[in-house]
Amino acid sequence: MAFSLSAASHSLCSSPRVSLPAASSSSSPLVAIPSSSSPHSISSLRIVSSSSLFPHSSLIQKKYPINVTNRGSSTGISPKCAASDAAQLKSAKEDIKVLLRTKFCHPILVRLGWHDAGTYNKNIEEWPQRGGANASIRFEPEIKHAANAGLISALKLIEPLKEKYPNISYADLFQLASATAIEEAGGPEIPMKYGRVDVTAPEQCPEEGRLPDAGPPSPADHLREVFYRMGLDDKEIVALSGAHTLGRARPERSGWGKPETKYTKTGPGEAGGQSWTVKWLKFDNSYFKDIKEKRDEELLVLPTDAALFEDPSFKIYAEKYAEDPAAFFKDYAEAHAKLSNLGAKFDPPEGIIIGNDPTQGTPEKFVAANYSTNKKELSDSMKKKIRAEYEAIGGSPNKPLPTNYFLNIIIAISVLVLFFYFFGNNNSDDFSGF
Ligand code: HEM
Repeated sequence: MAFSLSAASHSLCSSPRVSLPAASSSSSPLVAIPSSSSPHSISSLRIVSSSSLFPHSSLIQKKYPINVTNRGSSTGISPKCAASDAAQLKSAKEDIKVLLRTKFCHPILVRLGWHDAGTYNKNIEEWPQRGGANASIRFEPEIKHAANAGLISALKLIEPLKEKYPNISYADLFQLASATAIEEAGGPEIPMKYGRVDVTAPEQCPEEGRLPDAGPPSPADHLREVFYRMGLDDKEIVALSGAHTLGRARPERSGWGKPETKYTKTGPGEAGGQSWTVKWLKFDNSYFKDIKEKRDEELLVLPTDAALFEDPSFKIYAEKYAEDPAAFFKDYAEAHAKLSNLGAKFDPPEGIIIGNDPTQGTPEKFVAANYSTNKKELSDSMKKKIRAEYEAIGGSPNKPLPTNYFLNIIIAISVLVLFFYFFGNNNSDDFSGF
């Protein structure tokens, strides 16, 4: 039995994209509603074409905007569509922000996204056998893996979002929630793309044991074995481990950590567990600083965390991130985006970008100072020269130059003469101006 409410496909590819004749488009009469028999199966979406039959359809459509194309064809069915809908992704991101602010669930959503993606095996070509970000974690065989202890709570947080946004794949929702959690906790913007296709059955779950152990005999070797299998390198291992700046370990889940510490006994969110950092809902580089300084017994350091400062290659990055938060943010954002794409099959193949397109970059802010930095002070000799010339024609620093009334009158008369010369004869036949 799967945790998921439906074992049917959640890829929108099973849901036809609907086209209207051009004339009908303005009334937006199409709305997709789930069939009552299988409320979460996208393949069972019914297409309703009259808003008078469903007086609230416009409301429904607002809440669950669907992808309606208007290509002038009346046949209505297009065989190809994306795994997720861009408008729904944007809206879901806003809902996730609200969820984060009310439940303080940033850490567990990050862990959910990582555990779905982290089963990827780069040596297996076939999808979904290769594992990765395909939402297989929502099925019972995988959510029951020991490494996933406690993550059922994260699935429960996501399920209402899936109900509200049926046109987003689960795999996208998991990764959207994780990236949004990092950003909302004060971390870097992650250059994400969407369109991940979901697996559809529990049989497609990977075997147990692909995620790392926290206390293996040789932690650095173990980390390399697991992360290299995912196609990630030493820099990415260290940067991604920095996600432990968020959250806690709980003995009743992973077996690691203390039941509570002075930093966790009052929450926020559900109290308890042992955190890696003092402010465990704030994403910054304190994970690296705290491990380096070993300053607080109340803070957690797993054997795999400690290895980052023991192994010579890992240590280069760990030291750097402890000193340089900007370097950590940059490397983390890149590594997180890569992790979120592992093993995923995208539909469309290039993915869907919903607003933080890395290729677009941020427009440079206008800073006036940029344009005046080359301005040079006049040299003393130049100042003297200008003053001498100014005084020679009757000026001084305290007295402006006397007004030359005679010159002003000559200029005014000249202007008047020129004016009458050009515009006085407006009977001219070849006048073509105003
Ligand atoms: C390097 C190998 C890793 C090991 C051995 C490891 C191990 C663990 C363990 C034992 C926990 C405690 C779980 C619990 O008791 O609830 C945990 C929590 C967590 N892990 Fe990792 N992890 C690793 C890498 C990562 C990566 C790559 C990420 C994300 C990119 C990550 C994100 C988290 C987060 C956010 C939590 C806190 C969850 C919460 O508070 O509910 N971990 N990890």
